[in-house]
Amino acid sequence: MAALSAAVVGPGGVGGLLGGLLVRAGARVEFVAGERTAEALRAGGLSVRSVKYGDFTVPVAATTELSGPVDVCFVTTKATSLEAALERVPPGALGDGLVVPLLNGFEHMAVLRRRYPAEQVVAGVVRVESARTAPGRIEHTSPFLTFELGSATAPEERVAELAARLREAGLEVTVRDDETVMLWDKLTFLAAFALLTTCHMAPAGVVRTEHRDELVAVLREITAVAAAEGAVFDPGGILAFFDGLPPQMKSSMQRDAEAGRPTELDALGGAVLRAAERHGVAAPAVARLVAELAAREPAQNG
Ligand SMILES: NC(=O)c1ccc[n+]([C@@H]2O[C@H](COP(=O)([O-])OP(=O)(O)OC[C@H]3O[C@@H](n4cnc5c(N)ncnc54)[C@H](OP(=O)(O)O)[C@@H]3O)[C@@H](O)[C@H]2O)c1
Repeated sequence: MAALSAAVVGPGGVGGLLGGLLVRAGARVEFVAGERTAEALRAGGLSVRSVKYGDFTVPVAATTELSGPVDVCFVTTKATSLEAALERVPPGALGDGLVVPLLNGFEHMAVLRRRYPAEQVVAGVVRVESARTAPGRIEHTSPFLTFELGSATAPEERVAELAARLREAGLEVTVRDDETVMLWDKLTFLAAFALLTTCHMAPAGVVRTEHRDELVAVLREITAVAAAEGAVFDPGGILAFFDGLPPQMKSSMQRDAEAGRPTELDALGGAVLRAAERHGVAAPAVARLVAELAAREPAQNG
């Protein structure tokens, strides 16, 4: 079988790690990035330091616009740069390849399905802690890296085949039968974790003790919105998961806020509120947190 051909649009913490592992496993990978990052990748390759996969550097192909069809195009930008990054993937260049975004949230799925044929768009979820420390330099700090794939619009057999090919490359991949449940499964926890840790500028341990009533209220509201979307989760189960987190754990939204970078507030909290509004579900605790955080956001992110 021919080697898997892939593109990674936005080779940061997630995309750099994923693309680096695929290159190391023998896949043909085109990294699609801004000029400066593409140049750094071409000149110095991609270096990964990983507690799970070890440290390695691979030479990589990098462009500023997808050069031609691939089997799969992973989209791994932050939500705040999604639209600009997609300009680098003209629908005509994609051929009949699958498009797999690994962003948190869910509203990006509609953006992708407006731009590319829906039968080629597959939702993805990644669980990892990985950061881009410089262009082409990736630090993977979690002992885990797992992927989930699911699509309401792509043929099941194409999703299954992609999962199989990624597993052949050594990745842990699960196929989920319900895209909405898959995306909200992550978002119900993540939105609460991100909003509360960032608003209070405190790690998980402080949030779950000093702001417990608010945490419980937020989890109730988010799970009510998820249920209205068709994804039913028990808020008590998510609270128990929250209680098991390492007390010092921070969210990436919190780290972005601390560093003065734009955050994914709108893609997480904003998206929950828009869904709440659509379904007529009250979400006052989430609305309060989103309003407070929006007021602190750097100006360029609205
Ligand atoms: N990192 C994690 O541990 C983690 C875990 C789970 C889920 N996620 C989710 O995964 C998504 C990606 O997060 P991340 O942490 O990997 O972000 P990141 O490290 O900031 O990487 C984003 C990448 O997108 C690139 N980019 C920005 N604008 C672009 C444009 N116009 N054209 C091409 N590339 C562009 C950036 O390029 P430059 O390098 O040139 O700045 C960067 O390499 C987010 O939705 C996040 O919530 C992240």
